[in-house]
Amino acid sequence: MHTLRAVVVGAGTIAGLHLRTLAASERTELVGVADIAGERARLAAEAYAIRPYTDYKAMVRAEKPDIVVITLPHVLHKEAAIWCAEQGCHVLLEKPMAMNARECADINAAAARCGIVLAVGHMQHYFAENVKAKQLIQSGKLGRLVTIIDRRYGYYYDEKRPAWFLDKETSGGGIVINIGSHSIDKIQWLTDCQITSVKAELTHYGERGNVEGSASLLMRTSHGATASVSLFGYRGVPPANETELLFTDGALKIAARKGLWISGANGYELVDTGAMGEPFAPQWDDLLNAIGHGSELSITGTYAQTVSAVVDAAYRSHETGRAEEVAVI
Ligand SMILES: NC(=O)c1ccc[n+]([C@@H]2O[C@H](COP(=O)([O-])OP(=O)(O)OC[C@H]3O[C@@H](n4cnc5c(N)ncnc54)[C@H](O)[C@@H]3O)[C@@H](O)[C@H]2O)c1
Repeated sequence: MHTLRAVVVGAGTIAGLHLRTLAASERTELVGVADIAGERARLAAEAYAIRPYTDYKAMVRAEKPDIVVITLPHVLHKEAAIWCAEQGCHVLLEKPMAMNARECADINAAAARCGIVLAVGHMQHYFAENVKAKQLIQSGKLGRLVTIIDRRYGYYYDEKRPAWFLDKETSGGGIVINIGSHSIDKIQWLTDCQITSVKAELTHYGERGNVEGSASLLMRTSHGATASVSLFGYRGVPPANETELLFTDGALKIAARKGLWISGANGYELVDTGAMGEPFAPQWDDLLNAIGHGSELSITGTYAQTVSAVVDAAYRSHETGRAEEVAVI
């Protein structure tokens, strides 16, 4: 079987899941990992019997990979993705695609110019509960979509969170760009829409860093439905990751990694979604199929740029105090 050579750039939290996925893939030869923190690269490399590097450019030059997985702080996504594209490597870039939609557009232009396949890690597309929900929405049996309510709660200032996430210069922002990009992606992808305007109110009460720790987003979509997203990152509130979609003839409720429910005669009834497996292997297969067979990617750079544009509009809205249109670049 023809295998593709792959390397991982960044050996932090999420890299572990990518490394495990690539090492387990029969269609992949995992050959290297790079991190400026040399000990992290060394430990990750040791675990998979691959070569460690502290300079990702040196790794790409030496290993000549077909694919580079980029799991770096947000501020480095653009530079690394464009450089790897220019070396002729296909790229799986972690979410959020970049610091803002302008940077995403530059990455997309480089990917097109260099003729590489670019995928972005909005891995909720591979959650069984979301896939089933999307099918039910597309079936039309619930009628017309009226509104979406999405809630993501979780302590954002945890000591374990790397400091760069809490510095706007390296992260691009806080809970909106990092967690809210998942909510925005979920709303757009599940319901096949583009969010067209956002009114956002943020708070900055975190005990470290300078990024926002909560957000209330009220959004309009291209199919006429509204969506509200509550992101909450302060201490002491039980975690939540839930989405309700209310239609003219019923409702769906998704609790991430727990299940999917549909409205019935006696309230919400559990839907059989099949096994709720981990999303990284199907995400990787999607990219391999796009490279090898030209199949359609679920999460292209062009799509991920639209998510970033909504994030930009949310930050603008907080500044202006008005609802902001989502700009198309
Ligand atoms: N898909 C998801 O649900 C999910 C979950 C967590 C993180 N992420 C995303 O993954 C990315 C990484 O997040 P993380 O939590 O793994 O962060 P992390 O801080 O744990 O890992 C980033 C790594 O990059 C390394 N690094 C920094 N500069 C470098 C450079 N110039 N060259 C090589 N290595 C360098 C750091 O030393 C660190 O080990 C972010 O985009 C984040 O938003 C996605």
